[in-house]
Amino acid sequence: MSQLTIFQDSAPDAILVRTEDAEVMATELAKIGVQFERWESPVTLSPEDSAEIILEAYRPYLDALMGAKGAGSADVIKLTPENPAAPALREKFLSEHQHTEDEIRFFVHGSGHFVMHVGEKVYDALCEQGDLISVPAHTKHWFDAGAKPFFTALRVFTDTSGWVAHFTGDKISERFPVA
Ligand SMILES: [Fe+2]
Repeated sequence: MSQLTIFQDSAPDAILVRTEDAEVMATELAKIGVQFERWESPVTLSPEDSAEIILEAYRPYLDALMGAKGAGSADVIKLTPENPAAPALREKFLSEHQHTEDEIRFFVHGSGHFVMHVGEKVYDALCEQGDLISVPAHTKHWFDAGAKPFFTALRVFTDTSGWVAHFTGDKISERFPVA
């Protein structure tokens, strides 16, 4: 179940808001400029399906989204616990960072936590299959899909060279274990 939990950044133990209501999630996240939507899958896809099949199935949504965002490309990323690179990938995006372009992801299968640090609050968005999240450029955030990551996600890029992680050096994510 998708879920949003909001904390004061100085108090990881004190939950300010917790909701599994997608509309409330969208409303709360919109306040910090983060777009959150649930998409109905047009077809039933298997985790074994190729990137081409997944991109084709979501083409109508992608075309609309890419048009709205001025995005030039999309691809598919899969991560499973068997992937030998999984621990290193987890480690990399677990530290607070920013990008110079929006981070736009749609979960075809599986789940992961996008955690945004805006002002003095932390917004932990657990995204599940069917969830779209768009984190604006320059928003401080981190990502965690846990020690046994399992997800397939569409990625939409306005400029692939912009999707480079700039680390803030803040150790805040160590105080907010989410997965
Ligand atoms: Fe990121």
